[in-house]
Amino acid sequence: MTVQTYTFRIQRNMPGQVGAVQSHWQDYQVEAEPNTTILTLLETIKGGQDGSLTFRQSCRSAICGSCAITISGRTRLACKTHVGAVAKDGLVEIAPQKNQPILKDLAIDIRPFFAKVHAIKPYLQDGPESAGKVTSTAYDQVNHVTQCIMCACCYSECTMTEVNPRYTGPAALAKAFRFVSDPREGRKTERLQELSKQDGMWSCARCTLCVDVCPKEVAPMEAIIKLRTRGMGKGFTDAAGPRHALAFHEDINQTGQLNEFTLMMRTLGIFGALKETGMALHLAKKGKIPSPFPHYVDGVEELRRIYQSLERTPVDVETKAKEAVPE
Ligand code: FES
Repeated sequence: MTVQTYTFRIQRNMPGQVGAVQSHWQDYQVEAEPNTTILTLLETIKGGQDGSLTFRQSCRSAICGSCAITISGRTRLACKTHVGAVAKDGLVEIAPQKNQPILKDLAIDIRPFFAKVHAIKPYLQDGPESAGKVTSTAYDQVNHVTQCIMCACCYSECTMTEVNPRYTGPAALAKAFRFVSDPREGRKTERLQELSKQDGMWSCARCTLCVDVCPKEVAPMEAIIKLRTRGMGKGFTDAAGPRHALAFHEDINQTGQLNEFTLMMRTLGIFGALKETGMALHLAKKGKIPSPFPHYVDGVEELRRIYQSLERTPVDVETKAKEAVPE
């Protein structure tokens, strides 16, 4: 392969006074073949040009998760990313992970992330729901989430964590699903009740970025959807998230169209909706208040038939959609 010159534009973050970090961008030139990893080139820079550059790495094999950084706008594992795949006109921008406190240069403080993982009790608990036997198919559900290496790529890209730092986050929720779906776990319902609370599984905005960036194809959002389904199945529906989902279900089944006028009230309740009066007035000023009268959309009969079919033969959300479709 041809050797090329790449410019690495690296965000340098210097620890300042307590809680403050001063940043600037610094350019480095490196010669490399396109299939060289970003991690190798960061080491080249540190070894040959600037020993003060700080970043984390350990296994070099996409196993430990410690080299996750922002590369050309997306959080990726530096040891798994080839420079030729991410350079734009020879330029590669490198920054630390997002949504997390920075310690120095590309090294972040991972403690808030792991505090959330610890909060979901990442271990099996004794209890009344523990199954005596573990079948191989029961374990299929657990398998895909056990691939998680806790690199926090999903957490870094999570748009909900950005606006609500209290949100549990995709990695911890995927880990929670790993225990909820483990037949040996004895307190599944208790876990689901806990996860149904504010800032838990219903806070996910389903932006899918966690699925896109996960280097191990864990698909945290899929795990979150399964947690929600299980939570509702256990009757944990008295919160804005499940009420919102049920309102969608009701409207589409009845008219084929969402009644956005009543949606907020059904989701937040009367008092919750009253708190949003300011937003409603703003929408009204812009002529964006939806009609309170639902109208039936073309093809609603077909939609109803799909619903009836699903009620007769429910799609098992525990399996992939392509493996289980309505008749
Ligand atoms: S160095 Fe371990 S995942 Fe990259």
